[in-house]
Amino acid sequence: MTASIDIRDAFKTFGHGPQAIHALEHAKLAIRPNEFVTFVGASGCGKSTLLRMICGLESLSRGSIAVNGQPIAGPGVDRAMVFQHYSLYPWLTVTQNIKFCRQLKAHTRDRTSADVEKAAGRADALIRLMGLSHVADAYPSQLSGGMQQRVAIARALMSRPPILLMDEPFGALDAQTREVMHDLIRHVHRMEGSTIVFVTHDVEEAIYLGQRIVLMAPRPGRIDTLYDVPLPAERHQDMKLTPEFLALKREILERIRETSGMKTDLEQLARLNADVGADAALTTD
Ligand SMILES: Nc1ncnc2c1ncn2[C@@H]1O[C@H](COP(=O)(O)OP(=O)(O)OP(=O)(O)O)[C@@H](O)[C@H]1O
Ligand SMILES: [Mg+2]
Repeated sequence: MTASIDIRDAFKTFGHGPQAIHALEHAKLAIRPNEFVTFVGASGCGKSTLLRMICGLESLSRGSIAVNGQPIAGPGVDRAMVFQHYSLYPWLTVTQNIKFCRQLKAHTRDRTSADVEKAAGRADALIRLMGLSHVADAYPSQLSGGMQQRVAIARALMSRPPILLMDEPFGALDAQTREVMHDLIRHVHRMEGSTIVFVTHDVEEAIYLGQRIVLMAPRPGRIDTLYDVPLPAERHQDMKLTPEFLALKREILERIRETSGMKTDLEQLARLNADVGADAALTTD
């Protein structure tokens, strides 16, 4: 199952008057069904705000966001979100955590026990897909960070959401675990057919995972540049060392520095250091 996302001139302002924060202005983007899009950009440029708006957790100040052509009016089962901090229920096992929400939904909607059983089959399939079979009966506190995040992803996938929204989901993991998670999430993308919108601070992660990269800029928050990733659909870790990968990484990092004002800060710092150097040279003479 998959879906398109149409962001149509979206605006988001927090507060009013001179204190207003323009978190997002004139955001326009069409995300194709089953596309894997990654978002990068300086802190505060509105990445999480935009993701929350796609999820329906945050309202728009102006414009609209449509899923399969239908403007969204709030959260829905067609969209699932994974955050950096995996909020698992500590008193439930891995399997129970994955099944829990689905079972609640199945009961509250007056479904039959057959629905619950079907959900259990899906949970078992996800446990296998995420490589969690050997810890299915363990509790979250007994798992590593990477495993806990796999449980959180499996739980998000339980209702077969056509859209998976991920906000720095691997930000708290070490480099090696992250590499494993990258290949795993690409596998999930292929197997589940979901459209994935993935926010990260890590440009390398954005290139390795994405088919397209959206670079956002702050003050006001906006979409600055779109990059097509010039890598084949099938990826492997060695590609991170190829000239085209490194060239794109350099280009994106440079643009983030420019749009965040960091480049100006660095230039000022360099000038300051040069002045201090000159003064030091004068005093030692
Ligand atoms: N609920 C809120 N109330 C007021 N301001 C907010 C709120 N949420 C976000 N903002 C502001 O909107 C701007 C964009 O925030 P957002 O969290 O979307 O940025 P981000 O790109 O995700 O940053 P980071 O990379 O640090 O996670 C920031 O200036 C932030 O302070
Ligand atoms: Mg954020």
